[in-house]
Amino acid sequence: MIQTLPRLIPAAPGKPVREGAADTQRASRALAEDPSRWSPQEARAVIDRYTELAPVWESERGGYRPVPLSDALARGGPLPSGLCLEVGAGTGLLTPLLAKVWPQVLSLDLTPEMLRRSRAPWRVLADASRLPLPDGTAAAAVLADAPLFAEEVARVLVPHGVVVWSNALGVDAPHHVPVPTVLAALQRAAPGRQWTAVTAEAGWGLWAVFRPAGGS
Ligand SMILES: C[S@@+](CC[C@H](N)C(=O)[O-])C[C@H]1O[C@@H](n2cnc3c(N)ncnc32)[C@H](O)[C@@H]1O
Repeated sequence: MIQTLPRLIPAAPGKPVREGAADTQRASRALAEDPSRWSPQEARAVIDRYTELAPVWESERGGYRPVPLSDALARGGPLPSGLCLEVGAGTGLLTPLLAKVWPQVLSLDLTPEMLRRSRAPWRVLADASRLPLPDGTAAAAVLADAPLFAEEVARVLVPHGVVVWSNALGVDAPHHVPVPTVLAALQRAAPGRQWTAVTAEAGWGLWAVFRPAGGS
């Protein structure tokens, strides 16, 4: 079940257009549907791309990125306390928002040049396809324009844990994956849980919070 909330934050004119977004979206969606596609070559390509982007990430893209995530945290429903895992945390631009909700945030990224710019207190260089966490240890997994490895996310979440998803440029974001696709991937990954989602647009972006039915 997906509940769509009304938009509260309007989209200003001048939304950027990212070259090659359609190709990246296809790849992001394919990966969400079949994580076995991930390969060392793909990981290398991601690191090369974000190594190049890292120096300008915050100056060129920082302004609008917090908008949908802030709205998600405010309106996405109750958020369980405990450890928050930030997947694809990048330069740590969004970590302070998460730290207001979860005092313990583990910020994980694959690209050293992104992560070394982050001032997040807990940073780990790792691949989200193999999360370096034991089963059932995170209360929340936050993926802001990050790749979805649903089995890994479901594995590390506590039974009532939530997934917070955002695409800062909404349906035009290179890493956009449709909310029903994310929901289906979580459902496949954790068939014992009946996932529900609440979603909305905010600014240029969109967000969704996924939780198992009956969770807090
Ligand atoms: C679009 S950026 C988003 C960064 C940050 N969440 C933000 O909103 O500013 C995507 C980030 O995901 C990271 N990433 C991509 N694939 C990854 C993987 N398999 N494991 C961990 N991080 C990954 C990239 O290195 C990059 O920093």
